[in-house]
Amino acid sequence: APITVKKICCIGAGYVGGPTCAVIALKCPNIQVTIVDLNQARIDAWNSDNLPIYEPGLDEVVKTARGKNLFFSTDVDKAIAEADLIFVSVNTPTKKSGVGAGYAADLNFLQRATRRIAEVSTSSKIVVEKSTVPCRTADAMRTILEANSKPGCRFDILSNPEFLAEGTAISDLFAPDRVLIGSLQTESGKDACAALANVYANWVPRDRILTVGLWSSELTKLAANAMLAQRISSVNALSAICEATGANIDEVAFAVGKDSRVGAKFLKASVGFGGSCFQKDILNLVYLSESLHLPEVAKYWKAVVDMNEYQKDRFSRKVVDTLFNTITGKKIAILGWAFKKDTGDTRESPSISICNHFLSEKARVNVYDPQVTEEQIWLDLDETSTNEVDHKQHVSISKSAIEACKDAEAIVICTEWDEFKTLDWAKIYEACPRPAFVFDGRLMLNRAELQQIGFKVVTIGSGD
Ligand code: NAD
Ligand code: UGA
Repeated sequence: APITVKKICCIGAGYVGGPTCAVIALKCPNIQVTIVDLNQARIDAWNSDNLPIYEPGLDEVVKTARGKNLFFSTDVDKAIAEADLIFVSVNTPTKKSGVGAGYAADLNFLQRATRRIAEVSTSSKIVVEKSTVPCRTADAMRTILEANSKPGCRFDILSNPEFLAEGTAISDLFAPDRVLIGSLQTESGKDACAALANVYANWVPRDRILTVGLWSSELTKLAANAMLAQRISSVNALSAICEATGANIDEVAFAVGKDSRVGAKFLKASVGFGGSCFQKDILNLVYLSESLHLPEVAKYWKAVVDMNEYQKDRFSRKVVDTLFNTITGKKIAILGWAFKKDTGDTRESPSISICNHFLSEKARVNVYDPQVTEEQIWLDLDETSTNEVDHKQHVSISKSAIEACKDAEAIVICTEWDEFKTLDWAKIYEACPRPAFVFDGRLMLNRAELQQIGFKVVTIGSGD
């Protein structure tokens, strides 16, 4: 029979582990939840008034549960030892070196956490893969756990991928489209699955809790992200055709999305998708396909990433072309550094590639983002620098959009922050040299209004 989960440990206090397990604590007052991390600064921040990640609604959830049944700690061993269910929610970035470099997932963090579970546990545990991993990773985890466990300790492994999107994490967690749990179809596998399903059933309707085999669950996560990203690459590919023909991508996407088989969501053309997962997970799927000797399948999915690179590059070139083929020494404002609105996360943000493109043309770039810290922007530029141009000399970071746009020959919208819609565009126009250009990489501004003011407006996916 399934156990009743009383204590949960979550290894990894990041964008997923933090919000996910904070919501579990809020919704399950009878379960004690301890979120652990090796990173002391991150844990200190979770225990402070200044949480390490910006996510609408998160502060309230944490404040309500913290100190009652929600704890943040660096004492990984203690939390593992006490728990009957452990989420492994550590980072699984793309491998930087060795076999599969540039494609395969780096499972080092996951394996270290797994090893630690085996070494520290003195009682049986349900171990849950929360991180996004290649198909059959649970097999490797089981081997590690069984090879290092103490007598009398049993480990059941579940896959429970996370589908939340940043910026809407809390509402996604409160009302998920589905919760997916994969297990071995053995008696004890099914019991473990039921134990976790019972945790979610505290607030998620039963018919939204899907239980499947382990490998299906692991593959579903990669498949879901690949298909979401594919929609964006499809619409971005069409945006290029729109620009060349005079069609309008918003009109096309709206009409296509009216077909209920396609659906209206996730068809917004953009400067390209960013975020820590889409590219990483697709490359992971590409690597998996290659390893399974399915080169045509690998090529198919790789094209989604290639199209995204093309879109970022195409947009950057369009800015240069429109500014009469040179931006050397010209001042350009980049509005938005986060990879989407309502997050401070900049991982794989298109803004970084676009800024680097402008820098390679020796422009002077002013950056503004309402949530990203100055320190983070410099870090992103340091990490991606080609050393061709000294970015410290050519980039400055502004405290407001108005300040960033002052004297700019081009204003480039990279992130769809709501506040950009309500800026005093007339005032901004006054402080710009003529002709003053706005490049709307998110199709979010009122084009007619800006043109009325005097701006020359260029948008993704529209020919006029
Ligand atoms: P993150 O980098 O924000 O957090 C991971 C945390 O794990 C870090 O704080 C790190 O210090 C900690 N960690 C690493 N090894 C550890 C160990 N051995 N012991 C204790 N702590 C350890 O990553 P994230 O964005 O939360 O992503 C985590 C996983 O979830 C990834 O596999 C990712 O693909 C997946 N995912 C992410 C999102 C998202 O929106 N960010 C959504 C769904 C799934
Ligand atoms: C995405 C998925 O939406 C989540 O379901 C998944 O759990 C998560 O990845 C993950 O595995 O990490 P996230 O990357 O946080 O979530 O945010 P999205 O809303 O998916 O946006 C990703 C990127 O696509 C952003 O740069 C966004 O601006 C862009 N996008 C999104 C578009 O360009 N057009 C769209 O129509 C939608």
